[in-house]
Amino acid sequence: MNPGARRRIIAGVLTLDDIVIEPPAEGQIVDPQAWFASPGPFELEIGCGKGRFLLCRARSRPDVRLLGIEWASKFYRYAADRIRRWGVTNVRIMRTDAAVFVRRHLPAGCLSALHVYHPDPWPKKRHHKRRLIQAPFVEAALRATAPGGRWLLQTDHAEYFERMRELLDAQAGLREVPFDDPTFGPGEDWAGTNFEVKYAQEGRTIYRVAYARLP
Ligand SMILES: C[S@@+](CC[C@H](N)C(=O)[O-])C[C@H]1O[C@@H](n2cnc3c(N)ncnc32)[C@H](O)[C@@H]1O
Repeated sequence: MNPGARRRIIAGVLTLDDIVIEPPAEGQIVDPQAWFASPGPFELEIGCGKGRFLLCRARSRPDVRLLGIEWASKFYRYAADRIRRWGVTNVRIMRTDAAVFVRRHLPAGCLSALHVYHPDPWPKKRHHKRRLIQAPFVEAALRATAPGGRWLLQTDHAEYFERMRELLDAQAGLREVPFDDPTFGPGEDWAGTNFEVKYAQEGRTIYRVAYARLP
């Protein structure tokens, strides 16, 4: 964050410079609370695409602090500009590989929620190793999640969903909780993600599951 950023955030006006967080340097552990004008529960969305969920969540839950990570520069730029135009002050965005970021740069216990909606399914067997939800990522994300922190996952890909569930159900540090928990959200104000809206229109089945980290 540049030196004038905090003053502008307090005044409620964010520039792209404030909204965009540069990927950390090799070996750096980030302090997510330092990106915001005031502290709050920190949530991460991986693969935020054009930012529909990120923005709706930020607007409906002004008490939370959100970071969206997006690898594709076209979507990342679109989402960053959308955050600026919406004028929400509790969202930041970063362009990086989220798997590396979670593994190497997040402090332990910093996450109160992890959102992963329609991660790339890599349907061919020889490409499965490129999937986000794999054992090393799960272990790193678990370390970064605070006790009681939630994971919300959603996909339209039945086989990937099955693999996710096998992996996550076997994790001693996680227990399944209702996805639609009104005390946490998404609840009635759930606007869906960009891909969810598109796939729902095509009549595809959407698979969802949520977990909480055990103390
Ligand atoms: C299928 S799209 C879903 C986008 C959004 N979550 C939605 O539901 O509309 C998957 C997104 O994840 C992004 N992505 C895939 N792997 C990533 C990674 N390792 N780090 C950050 N973003 C990633 C892709 O660029 C893409 O925009």
